[in-house]
Amino acid sequence: MDKQLNLKNIVMIGRTFEEYYKMFDLDNLPRNEHILDAASGVSSFCAEASAEGYNVTASDRIYNSSPLEIEQKCKQDLDAVIKQLPDLVDLFVWNFFKDIRVLKAQREKAYKLFIEDFKKYGTKRYKPVEYPVSDFIDNQFTISLVSHFLFLYEDHINYDLHKKIILELLRITSKEIRIFPIVNLKGEKSSLVDTLMHDKDFERNQISVKKVDYEFMKNGNEMMAITH
Ligand SMILES: C[S@@+](CC[C@H](N)C(=O)[O-])C[C@H]1O[C@@H](n2cnc3c(N)ncnc32)[C@H](O)[C@@H]1O
Repeated sequence: MDKQLNLKNIVMIGRTFEEYYKMFDLDNLPRNEHILDAASGVSSFCAEASAEGYNVTASDRIYNSSPLEIEQKCKQDLDAVIKQLPDLVDLFVWNFFKDIRVLKAQREKAYKLFIEDFKKYGTKRYKPVEYPVSDFIDNQFTISLVSHFLFLYEDHINYDLHKKIILELLRITSKEIRIFPIVNLKGEKSSLVDTLMHDKDFERNQISVKKVDYEFMKNGNEMMAITH
C-alpha cells in the first residue's frame, strides 16, 4: 500500500507567515490588498501578517469554538500527525524543517501565535465560515489564499464540493485565488486539478500552475492561481 498520513478528518494544524509567504509567492503583494485566508484554522498567517501591516481576514469553520477548545483539538491533531512521521520521513523534504523536532516547534509556534491573536481580536478578525457558504459580499477581498485544504484532502472533499468552494471564493474575490499545494496526501498531483482545468464552468477563468520556493511534502511545490 502507498505510504501516506492516515487522517480520519481534515486536521487542525497551522502554518506560519514565513511558510505562507513562500507557498503563495507573496513577494510582490502590495500591502493594501485585502487578503482572505480561507480555511485558515490555527495558522499564524493572519496574526503575523496583520502585525506587518497587511490587511487580512481569516475564515474557518472552527471560529465559533472557544480558544481553549481549539487549542485542545489542535494539540491532539499535532500529536497524532507527529507520531506518524518517523515512518513517513521519506514522503517529505527536510530543508525548510531540518527534522521532526524543528517541525513540531514551528507548528506549536503557529498555533500559539494564533490563539493569542484569536483571544485578542475574536470574530473581528477570525470569521466563522463553513465553505462553500459565506456571508461575505461580492468582491470583498482582492486575493484569497487556500493552504492545505483543497486538493490535499481529495479523499475527504469530492469534486462537487471543491467546485462549489472555488465558485464561492471567485464570487467574494475580485482578483485572484491561490491554492497550495495541489498534491494529495500521498504526494501525487491531485486528479481534481485536471478535472477543474477541463470544467466548462471555469473556461472563462485563467487557471495557471506555478512552481514556488517551498517544498515540504515531496512534489508539493506548485501553487494554482485562478483569476477572473
Ligand atoms: C490542515 S488545516 C490548514 C490550516 C491553514 N490553512 C494552514 O495551512 O495552516 C485545514 C483547515 O480547514 C478547515 N476546514 C475544513 N473544512 C472546512 C469548511 N468546509 N469550511 C471552512 N473551513 C474548513 C479546518 O477546520 C482546518 O482548520
